[in-house]
Formats: sequence, C-alpha cells, structure tokens
Amino acid sequence: MTKADAFVGLDVGTSGVKAVVVDARGTVRSSVTTPLTLSTPRPGWAEQRPQDWWTAAIASVRRAVRAAEGMRVAAVGLSGQMHSSVFLDARGSVIRPALLWCDGRTTTECREITARVGEDRLREWVANAALEGFTLPKVLWLRTHEPECFARLDKVVLAKDYIRHRLTGALASEPSDASGTLMYDTARRRWSTEMMGAVGLPMSLLPDLGESSEVLGRLSPAAARLTGLLPGTPVVGGGADNACGAAGVGVVSPGDAVASWGTSGTVLAPTGEPRVDPSLRAHTFCHVVPRTWYVMGVMLSAGGAFAWYRDVMAKELKGRKDANLVLNQEGEKVPIGAGGVTFLPYLQGERTPHRDAGARGAFVGLSLAHGRAHLTRAVVEGICFGLRDSLSILRGLGLPMAHLLLTGGGAKSPFIRRVQSEVYGLPVVRVNREEGPAFGAALLAAVGVGAFADLAAAARATLKRLPPERPRPEAHRAYEEPYRRFQALYPSLKQWGASGAPP
Ligand code: XUL
Repeated sequence: MTKADAFVGLDVGTSGVKAVVVDARGTVRSSVTTPLTLSTPRPGWAEQRPQDWWTAAIASVRRAVRAAEGMRVAAVGLSGQMHSSVFLDARGSVIRPALLWCDGRTTTECREITARVGEDRLREWVANAALEGFTLPKVLWLRTHEPECFARLDKVVLAKDYIRHRLTGALASEPSDASGTLMYDTARRRWSTEMMGAVGLPMSLLPDLGESSEVLGRLSPAAARLTGLLPGTPVVGGGADNACGAAGVGVVSPGDAVASWGTSGTVLAPTGEPRVDPSLRAHTFCHVVPRTWYVMGVMLSAGGAFAWYRDVMAKELKGRKDANLVLNQEGEKVPIGAGGVTFLPYLQGERTPHRDAGARGAFVGLSLAHGRAHLTRAVVEGICFGLRDSLSILRGLGLPMAHLLLTGGGAKSPFIRRVQSEVYGLPVVRVNREEGPAFGAALLAAVGVGAFADLAAAARATLKRLPPERPRPEAHRAYEEPYRRFQALYPSLKQWGASGAPP
C-alpha cells in the first residue's frame, strides 16, 4: 500500500519547539512539543541558544513523524519566534546565544537609529519604529559591545531560518520574518539598502529571500537521519510565528483579525496594502500571503506573564498538567474586576501601546481580603486589558473587527475566552483545530508542493470555524472601570520602571 501524503509544520517558539504532522485533509496526525528554557542573564535581557532550538526541533520532528505511522512526509514548513538574532560566522557556526524578541537591552541602539534616520524615514523605509526587540538594533549592540563577535559576523538569520540552515544547508528567509528585522523594505518587499547604508552595515549580512510557500531547500542526508524524514524532502520558506499563527486559524486576508496568546500576546489584522500606524505603536509586517500585509499590536508578556505567575505563586502545582486549569478555576469564581486588584503584565517591558522596554509589572490594590484567586483573576484580566489596548489601536486605524479569531493558550480555556470576549466587547471565534503557528507552517508546506492552489484554499479545505461566543453586554460594561484603572496605572507607575525615566 502506498503511503498517504502528509506535511510537517515546525514552530520554534520561546517556551518550546512544536512539530505537527498534518494530512492533506488537515487532520493532525501527531503533535509533539519539546520544551525550551529562557535565559535572562540580566533583568530585561532574554537569550536562547540556537543549538537548543535545533536539538528540540530534531526531537519534536522525530517523535511526531514516528507517531504519524503510515504517512509519507511530502514537505516541511517552518515557523518561529520573530526578530530573534542568530549570529553566524563564515562557516555557518553560531557566534553567541541569540538575543530574543523580548530582549530589552538595545534602547541606546534604537535611539541612535531613530536619531540618524528619523521617524519619517523609518516609516518610509521599513514601516516600523526602531524597537528593542527587532533585529537591527541587536546587530548594532553586537558591534558596540562585543566587537570580537562582530568581527566574525558573516550572516544574521532568524530562528526558523537557522533551523532551515541546519535542515537543508540553505541560508534563506521570506518576507514575513524579514519584515520584522528593521532591515527590510516592508512596502516594496526587498531588503532595505537605504537602512543598511544609513547604519553602515553590509548587505552581505542578509540571507537570500524567497516566498513563504516556495521551496527554498531540501533536506540533507544528515538532517534526514536525525529527523526520520526522507533526504531531499522539500522545505518551504514558511513564516513568522504570528503570520503562521494567523494562517493556522484561517486569517489570511483583509476583513479578519486574530488575538494570539503565546508567551507574547498579539492582535493582528491583515491588510491589502502596507498600512502604518501614524504613532508607530503597532507594527506593520508582511503576511505569508503574497501582496498581503498586517498591522499588529504586541504585548511582550501574555502567556509568559501567566506562566511566571503560576511558577512563582503556585509552586505546589509545579509539574502538574492541570496547573493552569486549577488556577483558572479559582480565578473564575472571583467577580469581574478581581476585587479591585489590578495587574500590569509588563514583566519584560512593553511594546504596544507604550513602546517602553523599561516598563515593569505590578500588582496594585491589594488588601488583606485578597487571596490567590483574586491575583489569578487580576493576571488574566491584566493580560486581556493589554490586548484590548492593541485592539483599540487597530480599530482606530479603521481595520474591521466584527469578531476576533482566537489562538494559543487564551483560546483553549473557556474562562479566558469569556474574559477576552467581554473585555473586548466582541464575539470570539475558535477553529476546529487549534495547533497554532505549526499548523499554518504545515499548510504553507502543502501549498508549496501543490497540494492546494494557495493558502486561502488550504485554509478553506482544512479548517472549520466554531460558533462565535458572544459577550454579555452587562459584563462588557462591568469591565470599563477596571480597564480604566489599568490604563491609568502605567503613566503613574512609569517612574518606577527599569528605565528610571522621569514621570
Ligand atoms: C512579534 C513578537 C512576538 C514573537 C513571539 O513582534 O515579537 O510575538 O514573534 O514569538
């Protein structure tokens, strides 16, 4: 009997590397996640070793492929955390640990870029502000602080593109990830010679570019042995995790929007042209679909804040699979507003709306009457309030928001779905398969080898939307006062952030 075709989607996240094997109908035959740890050598810094991504990627793919017995993997699609910088020498070896998307050490470099180029040209050349998480400031940080590393630097690549290099030998990227580097002309979809020239970096640092659903390499015999896949298996361009996450719930064209709750939290709406937030609080990046962009608000700690809270405040639940469930069940019993407790989730600084890498988290309004359940509820509400800030910016730009697709941890819990819907005042919608960016990457692989005409057709053929969950109007109203409290706290606490900025 000949084996049926399947597609591997591989997502290099921050908390783990996930591999899924998906068949041509979209059925998930297997899904394996290998956990990762995050190193924070100093407050506000965040690093991971690319070698650890690779080891975890091999483990996840190998186990997922073995579990999907009877399937022949026809192509691989890659997705990964955006912006995180892998510094490679001329032999393709990693020079130092990667500086991650949530690393805040590059404030000085961001100021330098903005001073040299000006916000108008940032808008024109790269469609985004110079923010600490993006890749370019990390390269400039390396040049200033680790000149011996910079002297060896031959290429800068992103997380999933490093995995592509290990799988196929190719050094390549695609528009959705390239547009998060600040070195890419997001509107014209090419590397920005203007920006590279302005900061004095050679174009040779940048990898080749292809399209997200284009085959950009084939599995080497060595990688085939390690993963259990066939040598020569095509590997498509793939995409940034937010773009693949959107694709994974079928948000591929203008008119839809999605809120994602991963380590970060994002609200993303596709556009038919590169639309830029005049105050640059939201980002503008390329989607994994040709001639499509998206505007996105990003909070740096969503699921990451919840995981921190759980690990610090619920030590007795450590190692239990139902730890989040137990906490959520406690939090659900507390009424809207968490008894007056407010949580600011800015544990690693914040991008949207504050553009402040020095922002820090807080619990405010505590009394002896409060217990863990109040804090849990405050954490969930604080994360949703942060996402609402992003949502309001996107709405302000005139992007349609009749309902919101949900993906990630916040889509799985009925309690968090309800809080999201009622904080936003919008119906929320899930899809029948919630596998996040890895699923979107698998769809890109399927498109790349001709199993579907394009991504929209792949999404239509494989995904079904579940009935919308609608907010209770009185509950939405009840969140107004706690949300106003949340919004008022950042400006009044700003002076206590790590940046020491005056009030
Ligand atoms: C987006 C961002 C994060 C990462 C998470 O700009 O920095 O959402 O992509 O992996």
